[in-house]
Amino acid sequence: MAQGWTQRAQDIESFKVMDLLKRASELGAAGQDVVHLGAGEPDFGAAPQVIERAKQLLDTQPLTYTAAGGIQPLREAIALFHRQRYGQAISADQVLVTAGASAGLMLAFALIAEQGTNFLMADPAYPCNRQFLRLVEAGAKLIAVDHRHNYQLTAEMVEKHWDQDTSGVLIASPANPTGAVLDAAELERIAAVVNARGGTLVVDEIYHGLTYGVETPSAVQIDSDAIVINSFSKYFGMTGWRLGWLVSSKEAVAEMEKMAQNLFISPPTLSQYAALAAFDKDALALFEERRLELQARRDLLLSGLLELGFKVPRVPEGAFYIYADASELTADSFAWCWALLEQAKVVATPGADFGANHAERYVRFAYTTSKDRIREALSRIRQFIEDQSE
Ligand SMILES: Cc1ncc(COP(=O)(O)O)c(C=O)c1O
Repeated sequence: MAQGWTQRAQDIESFKVMDLLKRASELGAAGQDVVHLGAGEPDFGAAPQVIERAKQLLDTQPLTYTAAGGIQPLREAIALFHRQRYGQAISADQVLVTAGASAGLMLAFALIAEQGTNFLMADPAYPCNRQFLRLVEAGAKLIAVDHRHNYQLTAEMVEKHWDQDTSGVLIASPANPTGAVLDAAELERIAAVVNARGGTLVVDEIYHGLTYGVETPSAVQIDSDAIVINSFSKYFGMTGWRLGWLVSSKEAVAEMEKMAQNLFISPPTLSQYAALAAFDKDALALFEERRLELQARRDLLLSGLLELGFKVPRVPEGAFYIYADASELTADSFAWCWALLEQAKVVATPGADFGANHAERYVRFAYTTSKDRIREALSRIRQFIEDQSE
C-alpha cells in the first residue's frame, strides 16, 4: 500500500473472477480452446442498425459533449420505450441518461445513501453495489436469500432487517447471479414497507426484456419515488458502449443530473446518438429473436447441469445466468472453478464473487455463448467430473 491512500480505496474489493478471466485469456493466447460461461455479456453485440448509425456519425458529427442528462431525443425515445413496454406514460425529464447502469447506480447511491447509513440487499447479488456504497461512506446490509424465496428479498425480510441507520433497499430483478425474477405483488409489499419507513427503493432493471415466460413491471409503476436503473448493456447488447439510464421523479432526476455534470460532464456522445437506432422496429424484432435464443440456451444448459449433478431448485426466469448448487460435486466452488479452467478449459464464476451466503457451494454459469459451445462445455464438465472422481 502506498502512503496516503485512503481507507476507502483499500476497502474496495476486486472482482475475484478477474484473475480467472486473466488466466483464461492467457490460455487462449497460448492457443488453447477455452469455452466461456463466465462473461456477463451475450455474444451478439449491438444491433446492425446501431453500428451503421455509429459509422455515419463518425464521418459527419464533431461528437462534442452533450447535456449531462443526455441528448433530448434519447431521453424522449427512452420515455416512449418505457410507455410501450409498461403502458405507463413518463416524461423525458424523468429519464437521466448515464454511462451504463454503473454510473446510474453510483448517482442513485450518491443521492440517497447518507454517510454512515446502510442499504438492504440480497446475498448473493451483483457485487459492485457494495463498493459504490463504500465510496459514499455508506454500507450494504446483506440479507441471505435462497431458493425458498426465489433468491429475492421479501417484505418480511426488509421489515426484520430495517434498523435506524437504513436508508433504503436495493432489488435487482431479474437478478445477477441467480436470474431470479421478483414477484410483482412482493415488489409492491416491499415498496410499501420502504415508504412507510421513509426510505428509498432502488430497483436495478438492467435485465428487463430478458425474461422467459414471466412479465416484469417497472418499479416506478408501483412507487413513483423509486429510482429505477436500466442500461443498453444487456437486452440491447451494447456492453462496451457504456450507456444506460435511470428513471425516477423529475426532482430526483434533476438532482442527479447536477451531480452528473460534475462527475462525468456527459455520457458518451457517439453511443447516445447511435442508441437512437436501437429503438427501430427491426432492431427491436432482432432483440426479441435473441431473447428466444437465450431461452433455448437456458433450457439446454439447465437440463445439462441437472444431469451432471448440479442442483437448481428454481428455474431461473430471467437474465442469462444459472446459479447452480455444486455441493454434490465439491465443497469449494472457488477451487473447483480454477481446476475446471486449468483442466477442462471452461470458464465459470465461483459463488464467492457474489457474497458470503454459502458461496462455496455455488457456481454461476452464463449462457452467453452459442448452443454448440454450451454442448461442448457440458461434455468437458462431464469429463472433468469423471476424472475427479477417479
Ligand atoms: C445487476 C447488474 N447491474 C449493473 C451492471 C452494470 O452494467 P453496465 O454495463 O450497464 O454498467 C451489471 C453488469 O453485469 C449487472 O449485472
